[in-house]
This record gives sequence, C-alpha cells and structure tokens, in this order.
Amino acid sequence: MLTSNEIRTKFLEFFKQRGHAVVPSSALVPEGDISVLFTTAGMQQFKPYYTNPGDAEKDFGGKNTVSVQKCVRTGDIDEVGDATHLTFFEMLGNFSFGGYGRKEAITYAHDFIKKELGLEISYVTFYKGEGVVPRDEESEKIWKELGVADIREDGKDVFWGPTGDSGPCGPTTEIYCKNATGQDVEIWNIVFNEYFAGSSREKLDKGEATLKKLDTLGIDTGMGLERLLATVQKKESVFDTDLFTEIFGKIDEFTQSKNDRARRILADHVRTAVFMISDGVVPGNGGRGYVLRRILRRAIRFADVLSIKHVALFHLANTVIEKYQDIYSLIRANKRMVLDEIEKEESKFRQTLEHGMKEFEKGTDPFILATTYGFPIELTVELAEEKGIKIDIDDFNTKMAEHQKLSQTASAGMFKGGLANHEPKTIKLHTAHHLLLAALQEVLGKEVKQRGSNITEERLRIDFAFDRKMTDEEKKRVEDIVNEKIREDLTVVRREMPRDEALKLGAEMEFGAKYPETVSVYFIEDKNGNAISKEFCGGPHVEHTGELGAFKLQKEEASSQGVRRIKAVLL
Ligand code: SER
Repeated sequence: MLTSNEIRTKFLEFFKQRGHAVVPSSALVPEGDISVLFTTAGMQQFKPYYTNPGDAEKDFGGKNTVSVQKCVRTGDIDEVGDATHLTFFEMLGNFSFGGYGRKEAITYAHDFIKKELGLEISYVTFYKGEGVVPRDEESEKIWKELGVADIREDGKDVFWGPTGDSGPCGPTTEIYCKNATGQDVEIWNIVFNEYFAGSSREKLDKGEATLKKLDTLGIDTGMGLERLLATVQKKESVFDTDLFTEIFGKIDEFTQSKNDRARRILADHVRTAVFMISDGVVPGNGGRGYVLRRILRRAIRFADVLSIKHVALFHLANTVIEKYQDIYSLIRANKRMVLDEIEKEESKFRQTLEHGMKEFEKGTDPFILATTYGFPIELTVELAEEKGIKIDIDDFNTKMAEHQKLSQTASAGMFKGGLANHEPKTIKLHTAHHLLLAALQEVLGKEVKQRGSNITEERLRIDFAFDRKMTDEEKKRVEDIVNEKIREDLTVVRREMPRDEALKLGAEMEFGAKYPETVSVYFIEDKNGNAISKEFCGGPHVEHTGELGAFKLQKEEASSQGVRRIKAVLL
C-alpha cells in the first residue's frame, strides 16, 4: 500500500522525469496577490506565468513545473467531519506555460493514475462550451484514444477559475475513480488556461465580465493528496489514511469518546492551525488571524465535546508537527512559535469557554458572547442549531458594526498619524507605545503628554510635550522600565465606557482629539488589577506584554518647540 510520503515522491519524480522543474510549495499566505486570504490551489504561485510565459524559462529553467502545494479552503468548514472535507490539504499539481498542451497533460494524468497508482478510471468529463468558449472536442478525442469508455460532457462545473478577483481560467477535464465505498470521486482536475478574466468568478457567472483569450495555452492540474490517498489506500474517508494515524492516536490518549465528527473536526482544525501559524499567521481579530482564531476556537469547543477539558491542543499540534516537519521545513523551523501560539490561544479561550457556555445556556445575546466571551458567531450559531434555536444574524451584524465603528473612531482619534496596518509587529509596537508613555511619565513627570504618534511595522514614534533634551540616565531608565513591564507579562484589557468615566479615571487622551460619547480604553494591568497604563484607544493590542520582546530606544530629539520625539523598536 502506498503511503503519503511515497505518493508525494512518486508524483514529483514522475513529472521530473518528464521535464518539469520541482518547485517547493509556496506559503499559505499568498505573496503579491492580496485578493485572496489563503493559497487555495497549486496554480496560485504560478499565476503570473500564464500571462507572461516567457518568465518561466528565466525562473525555472524551463516551461514546466511540478509541486506539492499547501492549501487552505474554509468555504466548506461546516462539512468537515464527513468523509472528504478538510480545511487544509495538499495539492499535487503539474503546470506548463507553453511547454505542452492537452494531449500531454491528459496522457500524463492517465498514465500516472493507471500505471503508477494502479487505479481504474471510472469516468472523465469535458467542457461542453458556452459563450465564447467552444466545446472541448480535443479533450474528448484524446480520452477516446486512450481507451476511456465513459466520457461525459459538463457545464460550469468544468470551467475553472479565476482565483481571487482576476486571473487565468479555462475549461477543465476531470478524472473520477471509485473509492472504497464504491462511489465515484473526483481525483484530478486538469485546467486548460486559455483565457484571462479581469474580474471574479462570481461576476463571470453573472455575465458581468468578459474573457480575454491568452496568447499561450497554459496547463494547471490539481489532485488533492488526502482524497487520492483514501482512494489508493481503499479507506472510507480521508481521516482513515496514514496522514491522520498519529493524530487520532494522540486524541485516543485523551478521550474514550467515539464521536467521529468531533474527533475529525478536532484533528482537521489542529492540522490547519499548525500550517497557518508556521506560515506566519497568528490568532487575531481580523483577516487571516481571525480565520485562524475561529478554527482554533472551534477545535477547542470540539475538544470540549469530547470531554477533553485540559489544554490538549498543544500535544495534538506537536504530533502534527512530527508528522510533517521532514516534509515542510517551515514546520520544523517555526515549531516553537506554533506551539506557543496554540497554547496561548487555548488557555485564553478555555478561561472563558465555560463561562460563555453557561451564558449561552441562559440565552445571552450572541453579541455579548462574541465581545465578552470570545465566541465567534459561527460557534454560537452552531451551538444554537444543536438545540434547534435560530440566531438573529442581522441583529448581531448590526451590533457588531456599531461596535467596530466605535473602535475605529477611537482609533482614528488616537492615532491620527495612523497605525500603518494591523500586522503582528505593528500591534506589538502599539502596545509598547502605551508602555513607553507610562514610563516617560514615571521618569519625567506626570505632566508629560502625548502630542502625536505614528507606528509602522519597523518602529514606533511618539511626540510628547516636554521642554528639554532627556539625559542619558533618563533614557536608560525609561528603556529599563518598559523592558521590566514586558518581563512582568502584564495583561492588556480593553473596556468600553462613557467618555466622562474614562476621563475621571485619568485615562490618557491625545491633546486636541475628539472622542465619542462611549469610548474604548486600554488598560495594562498587573495581576492585582492595578493599571500602570490607561489610554483612550481603539486598539488593536497584544493581550500580554510578554509577547513584545526587547524594547530599545533609538533616538530622542526635538520635534518642535516644547515637543520631543522618540523613536523606538522591538528586537
Ligand atoms: N486550479 C485547479 C484546482 O484547484 C487545478 O489545479 O482544482
């Protein structure tokens, strides 16, 4: 029986021998394509070569490439738990940018499936044509010549792409084989990239976009490793393949429950989280970080369903790391970070999970569950569904939108210079900025007030009212205090309150800024709840100062009359 490792190697070798350059998987965070959150297909890293095939020669020493690509697709997250759905998978693919056409692409796939894997092809499909795209008679003919008896024409389902909001796309031919339960499953998808769409697939389907014919026919094929393995290893589900053996073994150490759906969701989500974090995503409240957070929190909830009550994801993640670290070097390189992030998120969410569940049982508003107990809305919806209750999503969205507007207003007021972005590094510097202001007040006096600020991924800058140059000792003391507060791993908490109350508490506000009736205030507190910093601020911030690393003052200079400027970094 072929193992996952053997199939990866066999696939790369097969195409290498047929003139393909072996290209490593790109990261799950697509480079240079901001229109997609995650890499969802092997072709994504090759997108530019379909429009500029000449570049392939330069970059790969030839026109053909082959890869095993890490992919994340969360669109069907609700279906994870059945026999085929996963949020992370590996995609085997061969690509050509003018090197070959339909005949070779189809023959390679046919030979690999039949001769290398020993599988029978049940049937294949081809595109029946629509609009400017003609019926794919050539593919039909090639399959006939190869002796495949069941050849079916199909519509939109066999026209692929584009990914994101523009890109290459074209008709496909799909290959189906029988799985262990006798069902036909799609194994391989071969796309003939003959067109370029300047807008999304959605618009294309609505007839709102036009296709431009590409000068060169490109080949893009994709075969999901997990699904292929289940077929080759004659398993009923992707979870029964060797890729999951160790993970379920570990889950068995923690629970006797045989709740298959929960076990599968837990295994899938932990695996996805490991790959996301090793590619640089950290749990957060927006964008990729939020997708990751939702996945992790859902995993924790299902661990709970399995009666795994302690911090267990760390151990499961470790098992995933051991399974993949020889195949993906970033998994090995970032092992520490992956485990730390997962452990942090689990302990944090477990602190509120039990309370949140009690609140949920009481019928507490989903908005409160989200903002106070960290329950992503899908989680609440899912819990409600299990009880046959319906959640008012519109109401939730309205409240959330108001909540976010509030944060933004506060944030815009506080950071007129602007928080350049919400990258993890920028967020850390933002928290360091609060610590710095508090330290300046401790060393130079309470009257030190912020006059401006600007934070990028590289450094923070603060302008503050003070009428002379700081001495070296003062600078050193300020630096030491900030580093001490980082080492103490203080908690950062956000609270919403009426503006007057925040003023009464003496929260720092920027001179001249306008704040709304209700404001958001960030507190940095020690274990006893004593705040060493209170600022009007929309965030975002890290949750514990221990995440910041070493703080260093880089420069202290005059900014204008009576205003000093400090630039500082985190190492
Ligand atoms: N891009 C196609 C897919 O994702 C083939 O690789 O199915």
